[in-house]
Amino acid sequence: EQINKGKYEHYMQKEIHEQPESLTTTMRGRLIRGGSCKAKTVLLGGLKDHLKTIRRSRRIVFIGCGTSYNAALAARPILEELSGIPVTMEIASDLLDRQGPIYREDTTVFVSQSGETADTLNALEYALENGALCVGITNTVGSAIARHTHCGVHINAGAEIGVASTKAYTSQIVVMAMLALAIGGDTISSQARRDAIIDGLFELPSKVREVLKLDQEMKDLAQLLIAEQSLLVFGRGYNYATALEGALKVKEVALMHSEGILAGEMKHGPLALVDENLPIVVIATRDACFSKQQSVIQQLNARKGRLIVMCSKGDAASVTVGGSCRVIEVPQVEDCLQPVINIVPLQLLAYHLTVLRGYNVDQPRNLAKSVTTE
Ligand code: AGP
Repeated sequence: EQINKGKYEHYMQKEIHEQPESLTTTMRGRLIRGGSCKAKTVLLGGLKDHLKTIRRSRRIVFIGCGTSYNAALAARPILEELSGIPVTMEIASDLLDRQGPIYREDTTVFVSQSGETADTLNALEYALENGALCVGITNTVGSAIARHTHCGVHINAGAEIGVASTKAYTSQIVVMAMLALAIGGDTISSQARRDAIIDGLFELPSKVREVLKLDQEMKDLAQLLIAEQSLLVFGRGYNYATALEGALKVKEVALMHSEGILAGEMKHGPLALVDENLPIVVIATRDACFSKQQSVIQQLNARKGRLIVMCSKGDAASVTVGGSCRVIEVPQVEDCLQPVINIVPLQLLAYHLTVLRGYNVDQPRNLAKSVTTE
């Protein structure tokens, strides 16, 4: 064991708690604020010769598996907003199963912690054959994806040992937010938004440090949920990805069935599951979707749903109207960066559930850190 666990019992626990530092390393030397012209800007050295081509793309296509796919999904809205380019999402195996169309005018972005995932690598080969520009976002210098893409960005999160990806997820989102800033035009109309995101990025490590203080609260919640068979996680907008990723963490390590649900789809099926027994996490932090999530909470309350609501600090009263529920209050940051904050309590919940249920945290059954076969 070259990398030791230090004061932690498990690698997953260590990796969750080192996110303030891993995020700092991810951003180091890449964000520029102040100077003589007071400009705030982003420098991604690995992309500098390709930015013009990316800006002229007909589409940006994100390709990945598991957590890496979820990270790209979290970043999709800000990339669309700042670049104005359509962004589509592809699970690597599904793109290959369908032999989906990839064009010369596309920029394909391959997201992979290990840089060695077979499905993602095969999709890369397919995109290269189809003449697309291929960008890699990996955590592993010299990995196959880093070597075979035309250009890319390393997330520099440091080695991730636990099979469950935690710190790589938050660093991937940050890299893709920086990618959005780098691709997006520096227009006067977008300046305030860009500045707010850059300021938000600078503040992110300290906000993550703050949200990590929920550790004991998440352990208490895990104790309450220890014997449950299932957990639903409702999210939308920037936090649809958080719902998918939170559920993936719970099922992967705690071996509990869990499903991330797009809250906008609630009435199209999932509402039938709601009763007074099934625990449901609803992510309702402040953003443009907040009032819609308030209405979701009211409808779930009307069906006597057993709710755990994640909201922005100080918003407990606004999310508990018309019913009783457990509340997780998290620090508020710029909307597109909120997924980095919101996933942390769910990582902690998955971790504590696993320990309390007596399962192997770092090596969940049947899973490998890097999936190098189809
Ligand atoms: C994450 O917790 C999982 N272990 C898994 O979904 C993983 O993200 C997926 O296999 C992709 O791996 P990669 O990022 O190394 O390509």
